Amino acid sequence: MEKFKAGILGLGIGLPEKIVSNKDLEKIVDTTDEWITTRTGIKERRIASPGETALSFSIKAGREALENAGISPEDLDLIIVATVTPDMIFPATACLLQDALNAGSAAAFDLEAGCSGFVYGMALASQFINTGSYKKILVVGAEVLSRITDWEDRNTCVLFGDGAGAAVIGQVEQGGILAFEMGSDGGGGDFLKMPAGGGAIPATEESLAQKLHYIKMDGNQVFKFAVKAMARSARLVAEKANIPIEDIDLFIPHQANIRIIETSAKRLKIPEKKVFMNLEKYGNTSAASIPIALYEALKQKQIKKGDRVLLVGFGAGLTWASVILEWTG
Ligand code: UT7
Repeated sequence: MEKFKAGILGLGIGLPEKIVSNKDLEKIVDTTDEWITTRTGIKERRIASPGETALSFSIKAGREALENAGISPEDLDLIIVATVTPDMIFPATACLLQDALNAGSAAAFDLEAGCSGFVYGMALASQFINTGSYKKILVVGAEVLSRITDWEDRNTCVLFGDGAGAAVIGQVEQGGILAFEMGSDGGGGDFLKMPAGGGAIPATEESLAQKLHYIKMDGNQVFKFAVKAMARSARLVAEKANIPIEDIDLFIPHQANIRIIETSAKRLKIPEKKVFMNLEKYGNTSAASIPIALYEALKQKQIKKGDRVLLVGFGAGLTWASVILEWTG
């Protein structure tokens, strides 16, 4: 039973300063700016410098989100960090963030749902708010994918970037998170994974020699899954919210590949002007991509009060997740 409406009270981002262009990558692997641009839409990405981590980007993003929400860290009841590149397997990066922000004794945990992680986190947060159990929740998507990227593999190293985006979720009078939809297909897990580093293949000289601590991806399979999952999830969430897709004001998809986004938008009959993209600047930042895009869309005044915003993520797992928001301003 929904007692309270949940919405976004403030947003923030944390990005590395270092920019790596497609031209820079031409010097590292056998690729071209032309190939990367036409196949992915990406022109450059931000890459973490030594010492920068998912936590350092989360701190920046979290502080800005709290400031924009006009609340102090002690007001937080819960911190969720969605990431596949936590600072450590444990303790959770969310706990490190709770300490760094001085967030009282807020509950904290990491959420691992690949690139869908931030949208999973929003869905989860909305439930705590809806029931009245919690009043203020910080949801962060943060990644340092550069640390698990094989910089000799041109199939993957041109795609990813680092950074974080954060949202404070709390009670709103009207609008806010109208509906969510999420799901998974673990049968496709092999298409996108980092095989080693967990309990199955701990770090050994052999695992390092075989480069098992890096992202392994079957790009074509992920592409096919992505276009199907995005369109299906968007339709389902629109049905749940009882809002026809044509009434969506802005579509903010996971920023993985311009061709995936354009194909999905076409399937959903969403016109180009309603589709937000910033992947040319950041590449695919996994769980950070949707909150960074949402933040920039708002900054660029592409979202105004009352607008219906559709967020759709897909990624490792395989997972997908969608949210429809009515912007509360
Ligand atoms: O967040 C989820 C994460 N993953 C994704 O979203 C990935 C989804 N998949 C994709 O975005 C695309 O499948 C890719 C961008 C990864 C690949 O694009 P594609 O059009 O599916 O290319 P392809 O894999 O079919 O490769 C075409 C050719 C191959 O050469 P041959 O075998 O035809 O001679 C590749 O070896 O392009 C080659 N290639 C490259 N050439 C230059 C692959 N990567 C590169 C590269 N530069 N960086």
